[in-house]
Amino acid sequence: MYKLKEIADKVYYVGVNDRQKALFENMWPLPYGVSYNSYLIVDEKTVLVDTVDVCYSDIFLKKIADALDGRSLDYLIVNHMEPDHAGSIRLLRQQYPDVQIIGNKQTFGMLAGYHNITTGLYEVKEGDTLSIGRHQLSFYMAPMVHWPEVMVTYDSTDKILFSADAFGTYGTLDGGVIDSEMNVEHYWEEMIRYYSNIVGKYGNPVQRALQKLSALDIQTICSTHGPVWREYAAKAIDIYDRMSRYEGEDGVAIVYGSMYGNTEQMAEAIAASLAANGVKNIVMHNVSKSPASYVLKDIFKYKGLIIGSPTYSNRLFPEIESILDKIETREVKNRLYGYFGSFTWAGAAVKNLAAFGEKMKWEVVGVPVEQKQALNADKYAECWALGEAMAEKLKKEN
Ligand code: FEO
Repeated sequence: MYKLKEIADKVYYVGVNDRQKALFENMWPLPYGVSYNSYLIVDEKTVLVDTVDVCYSDIFLKKIADALDGRSLDYLIVNHMEPDHAGSIRLLRQQYPDVQIIGNKQTFGMLAGYHNITTGLYEVKEGDTLSIGRHQLSFYMAPMVHWPEVMVTYDSTDKILFSADAFGTYGTLDGGVIDSEMNVEHYWEEMIRYYSNIVGKYGNPVQRALQKLSALDIQTICSTHGPVWREYAAKAIDIYDRMSRYEGEDGVAIVYGSMYGNTEQMAEAIAASLAANGVKNIVMHNVSKSPASYVLKDIFKYKGLIIGSPTYSNRLFPEIESILDKIETREVKNRLYGYFGSFTWAGAAVKNLAAFGEKMKWEVVGVPVEQKQALNADKYAECWALGEAMAEKLKKEN
């Protein structure tokens, strides 16, 4: 029944779209949904690469049965054990009891823990190969991209990399599967958001994986989320490379909290100064309104970061503390950092923002501004000067 998309000769897309889940990992908004990608290679041996979230196992198993057309399934390659991809393994095993599950030692520990599966396993190590007929597969470990067991599978016959989460993005596949068949524009921002939310902490492991993969001739990337990259494979690799080096674009994210609008007025003054001094890419996030997912995306995207907070119970504003915690978790590096804050009777925000910048080893730009109560002409001028200093610094950097 299904007219399954053929990525290459007898390599089928059998993944699914999730337009129902509101929050990925129960945290990150999904305005465009998300796809769970799986691929089936029909050769002398039949090989499935990853499964899908268990919520979609019924439709998933039907697609596989159609593509197999009466044949059995010989192998399941498990590149990643997170349940958005490994969730259907137990049901798949029930449907195909003789399927051999290919993974590494760490995969199998998780397979036992999540699915109580301990038999019919085929262990691979770095660089191992498997001939399945016309296709020659090889396996490379990519630990912490984004879990410790992650590996990738390379098909040297068709030059396809099955890359697990790497090069993935939020966003469903709305008809098309391969990038050249669709308008991909909205995926790029979603890719940065996905990276910053999910993989952001693991910059060094991503760099190691990219280094390793650079030795391969990759013409098609089959990630577990989002389009199959072919026409834009180099662009997807470039984004992951820049993000994992924490290399920001020219621009500034202003991230602030405000209870009654006084700290917000400081943010407005700084933004106006940035614009007046030639900065075109300015994005402002009121952390009480912007989901952390988007705040993180812009912090990863831009080189300049200016954070502002009121003093709250002799600490930072709680929503600012929350975003600082997420930044620290992701070990965000190399930001040009400005900060400002306010208080009514005793200041704590600016002092805490200073300490945070030191902890992150960021370069402080401009003179921090501390405001008592409402904005006045002196503080407006100081905010303006902070914006000017950041704009000047960005010009020098470019
Ligand atoms: Fe898409 Fe780390 O799972």
